[in-house]
This record gives sequence, C-alpha cells and structure tokens, in this order.
Amino acid sequence: MKIKEMLECDIHNWNVWTLRCQLFHELTWDANSESKLVPFVLRELAQLFEEAHEVVKLMNSEMCPTPRHMFYTAWIELLVVARKRAAHMLKYPDAQVISLGIGDTTEPIPGVITSAMAKPLRAAIASTFYSNLGIEEDDIFVSDGAKSDISRLQVLSGSSVTMAVQDPSYPVYVDSSVIMGQTGQFQKDVKKYGKIEYMKCTPKNGFFPDLSTISRTDVIFFCSPKNPTGAAASREQLTRLVQFAKGNRSIIVFDSPYAMYMSDDNPRSIFEIPGAKEVAIEIEISSFSKCAGFTGVRLGWTVVPKGLLFSDGFSIAKDFNRIVCTCFNGASNVAQAGSLACLSPAGLKAMHEVVGFYKENTEIIVETVNSLGFKVYGGRNAPDVWVHFPGQSSWDVFAEIREKTHVVTTPGSGFGPGGEGFIRVSAFGHRANMLEACRRFKELYK
Ligand SMILES: Cc1ncc(COP(=O)(O)O)c(C=O)c1O
Repeated sequence: MKIKEMLECDIHNWNVWTLRCQLFHELTWDANSESKLVPFVLRELAQLFEEAHEVVKLMNSEMCPTPRHMFYTAWIELLVVARKRAAHMLKYPDAQVISLGIGDTTEPIPGVITSAMAKPLRAAIASTFYSNLGIEEDDIFVSDGAKSDISRLQVLSGSSVTMAVQDPSYPVYVDSSVIMGQTGQFQKDVKKYGKIEYMKCTPKNGFFPDLSTISRTDVIFFCSPKNPTGAAASREQLTRLVQFAKGNRSIIVFDSPYAMYMSDDNPRSIFEIPGAKEVAIEIEISSFSKCAGFTGVRLGWTVVPKGLLFSDGFSIAKDFNRIVCTCFNGASNVAQAGSLACLSPAGLKAMHEVVGFYKENTEIIVETVNSLGFKVYGGRNAPDVWVHFPGQSSWDVFAEIREKTHVVTTPGSGFGPGGEGFIRVSAFGHRANMLEACRRFKELYK
C-alpha cells in the first residue's frame, strides 16, 4: 500500500497495517525467536523503514497531526531501536542478546486469572452438552483436543493398568498404551499386543462386543459413534457396558468426538445411562474438531466427575488436574474464545450446518458403494463409511483403489486385526472431491 493511501485508508486497512507492525514488533522483541527470525526481521524492517521514512516525509511536508499520525510516530521511534538491535545481532551473530528495552512480560498469567478465563467455557460446555446429566463445570477439563487427552489419561493410568479396546478402533488408544508400557510384546500371528483385551466388533455382533467373552480390565476405552466403523451403541448396549464396568470396577473412557453426527436416538454421552451417576465410573472425552472444523484450532474437553475415586478413595479428578497442569499449559485464549462462540445459539446452528454438510457427503458415499453391490456399514451416525470386501486383504483393496482411481482410503486392518477385509472411506472432504471420487469408484467397480 502506498503511504499516502495508508494514511487515508479505511479503518480496516489501517488495522491490518498496524497489526503487521505490532506482530513485527513482537517478533523483534521476542527473546526466544530472535535467532530464528533475523532474516525475516531484517526483511520486514527494511520494508517498514521505507514506509516509515515516507510517512515522516509526508508528515513534515503536510503536517497533519491526527491521532493516527501520532500513533505512527510512536511506532517509528520504537522501530529505530528494533533496527539497531537487529543490526547488532547481525554484527554479533553468536551473542546471546538480552532484551531489557521495551519490556514485555515473561511470567505466565497467574493461575487464579487463567482459571477465571476458562470458567465461562467450562460452564458453557456443561450446560450445552450435560444439562440434567449431573455434570458440573468443575468436572470439565478444557484441553487442546481429544487425542492429547487420551494420552494424558494414559499418564494418569500409569504403566501397570490393563486396558480393553474395541477391535477395530481409533489407533491412539492402543498406541498410547504401548508407549506407556502397559502392554506385552506385539504378537505377529494375531496382530495384537499382549495384555490388551481386544473386544471384537464386527457386523455379526452389530459392532458391539460380546461382553461375556471379555476379561476384566482396569480401563475400557469405548468410542461411540465409532471410528472407524461408524457404528453407534444403543442405550441398551451402553447400559450393559456400564453394568459390566461396575461389576468389574473398571473405568470406562468414553470417546465421543462424533456425538453431533448421531441421527438415531442413541446416547450422545455415557452420562445419559441410568445409574452412571450413582457410582461414577466414566470419563468422557470430546472435542470441536469434527463438528466445528477445529482440527487445526485444537479445543476439546474431558469430563472427570468429582465422584470418580481410586480404590483408596483419592479423587481421580484431583490427580488428573495435577497431570493436566504438568503436561499442558491450557488451551489458547483464541481457541477458547472460538469455542464459546461455538456454544452460542448462532454457533450451535453453524456447527449443525457443518455436520449436515459432511452427513450429505456420507450419504453420497454410502449410496455409491451400495449401488455397486458392496456391503456398507456406518454413515448414519458418524462420518465414516465402513465397506466390506470379504476374503480380501484391506491393504490389497486399498492399493487397488489407489492405483486405479487415485483415491486414498484407509485399510481397515490399520485399526486393529478386526478391521481386516474392510476399508474406511471418510466423508471429510470438499463436495466436488466426494462426487469425483464416487464417479471413479463407479468406473472401477461397474
Ligand atoms: C475416535 C476419535 N477420538 C479422538 C480423535 C481426536 O480428536 P481431536 O482432534 O479432538 O484430537 C479422533 C480423530 O480422528 C477420533 O477419530
């Protein structure tokens, strides 16, 4: 932008420019970024100085000391210091330059303040998703997403617990268990890790495990609606699961990032199950990744009810709080502000529209695959379509589709041995790509 235009620009452009100045200024003074940013800083400096010089000339000739001009002059003065500092760093590249000039705070915001900042979001999550379910705002831990919380829950569990997973399942449960040292060796013949209870979920059992065949474990990871099969557990099935866990004194970690995708009248939260509140045995994880497009923004939450206790009576929430505060410094203010907006009436409507868009994608895939004569599962309650290729290897099917259509799917066996013979087709994508992928599937399998 030309300087004259800049001084006369509309407020939006002016803000962009001052924001850029501000950003640049912060980068210049950020003690941690200085070595990495020197070339960038210098380039920016040169540009800014050229502009600044022009402004000074303009101001001298036209002298119109509006608030904007005064603001600008203050920036120019600061930039002189920044320029000298950048030149100094170029001259002494190995020097550890310490910035005590402009002064920027380095200490973290006190916990008492950050917890007050987090409160409205926790309250909003509690009232939006758990009203009448006995969950209060202080049961909710705001995080940077479900995946990180799964690992933090594994840290809470330690290495000596035993765990069960649906098979097939989202790989992070097993992988984080391996990392924590909870498992035995990988058994190549059955493609399972020792000491993990794999709860087989196939079309034969309606993708819900036969609990009578499942050994007791300390923790049960349970996902519904489920990645990768797209199946959602019914109220009756979850009631059985809760009874099973109660009887075994197991804790259920209920992962439900796809809850908003539910079309059927299945529980969206494990806390909907009667009796679940009396003896709290559930932890629930969720996030805005799939319903508000927050996969890059990162905001999720975990519900650890106050009543959930270790066998010695110590509060699990207190322990989890300690772990969260040690492993994590809190969701960014930007992500929290965005999440609050998600929970406003307009935000909820917008999230339902996003979910609706992906559900339409899902229908397009399901319709196509059905029309080609394949047996297809999922789709109604989750954005995952689970396609059966009986007797074939998931990897072979994956390779054939990729080679012949240039469409990348996911081999079902990547989600556990129970996924062999399936591929997962995700509905997350642009509509045009969905339609084109389906056209190519039709070409391949016509
Ligand atoms: C079942 C399941 N849980 C958790 C996650 C991770 O979600 P987030 O983006 O909140 O970390 C995913 C993402 O693919 C998922 O499928």
